[in-house]
Amino acid sequence: MLQGKHIIIGITGSIAAYKTALLTRLLIKQGATVKIVMTPLAKEFITPVTLATLSKNTVLSDFFHHDDGTWNSHVDLGIWADVFVIAPCTANTLAKMANGIADNLLLTTYLSVRCPVVVAPAMDMDMFAHKATQRNITTLKNDGVSFIEPTSGELASGLDGKGRMAEPEAIAQWLSDFFETKESLKKKILITAGPTYEAIDPVRFIGNYSTGKMGFAIAEEAANRGAQVTLIAGPVQLKTTHPNITRIDVKSAQEMHDVAVKLFPEMDAGILSAAVADFTPETKYDIKIKEKQSLTIHLKPNPDIAQKLGSIKTNKQILAGFALETNDEMAHAMGKLERKNFDFIVLNSLADKGAGFGYDTNKVTIIQRNGEKKDFELKSKKEVAKDIISILASCLDRI
Ligand code: CTP
Repeated sequence: MLQGKHIIIGITGSIAAYKTALLTRLLIKQGATVKIVMTPLAKEFITPVTLATLSKNTVLSDFFHHDDGTWNSHVDLGIWADVFVIAPCTANTLAKMANGIADNLLLTTYLSVRCPVVVAPAMDMDMFAHKATQRNITTLKNDGVSFIEPTSGELASGLDGKGRMAEPEAIAQWLSDFFETKESLKKKILITAGPTYEAIDPVRFIGNYSTGKMGFAIAEEAANRGAQVTLIAGPVQLKTTHPNITRIDVKSAQEMHDVAVKLFPEMDAGILSAAVADFTPETKYDIKIKEKQSLTIHLKPNPDIAQKLGSIKTNKQILAGFALETNDEMAHAMGKLERKNFDFIVLNSLADKGAGFGYDTNKVTIIQRNGEKKDFELKSKKEVAKDIISILASCLDRI
């Protein structure tokens, strides 16, 4: 799985740095190209000469070459890499990463990379268990950083506990599994996201509070795992940069409906996360309404995109939707699963703190058509997207 992969290894100042020599050798043997960036302190534990020899590349540590003044470009390095693995990672570097501090080349590289980042911590057990370290780990997980858990055993301090860096073989295996998963979802996936705006006149509309964050996180995660994603987005402030995502911007429910119905037949799956307005004004005024006393706007129902896609879905396609409820959550979600012919539904309740519109977090329950039901804890929308895409992948595997 590592053949031809571009891997940056970041090394920080820990006694476990000697194990990174072996990790480098394992990755090179499996066909990866490895570039190493070290913090100044890491050089006290293992020499750049050893690592340059094993990696067959110059080891980077300083911002520029002292002899001729040329810069080591962390930006170029960040664009080149498929994954950035920091092993060993000290409590100090974790803390700096969590706070965006960039006082060495490893940290500027962390802030520049566009690829996934994985960290293998190494530290004394009390440092690892400390609230500050755990808080930094949670922050980084919410930022999308992955962790290879340290193991328990004898530590350099002589103490026994959790804090030993994972063995090089385990890190190499993690990377191999990562690339296997990353490229496993070779499917075409349609995603709807954000609100819809239903025009009243040229300056006013009926809308809702959806920001599109959940749908965009799902699109990003599916694209990261190799899917070709078509993202139909209502009016949102979010950007998409992933090359696997084709974005189609729409305003109204009718526009979203027309694009979705046209494209769905060529898709392997659809995830409908848009908060589609249920009604739209019967009449759209061409000029600004000037009425000051009272105004009655007659509404007509919008098409139900989910129901329509559910009715044309073949047995080779998977369709999933959302239910955002305030009460009788499970009964409403089950009703929508049936009515819209979903294979699974993601339920979130506005009664849960931190869940729903605008938040960066969400707390969901995923219910599958086969009756399987899983409650997830409150986590970042990026992590919720991972759970949703994993379930989608398992549904696609079953057909
Ligand atoms: N949905 C859709 N088109 C609509 C309305 C909803 O595609 N016109 C999709 C949403 O994207 C979501 C699911 O259907 O995946 C449920 O949305 P929700 O608004 O909760 O459902 P409604 O059918 O509108 O039910 P409610 O009576 O609760 O508003």
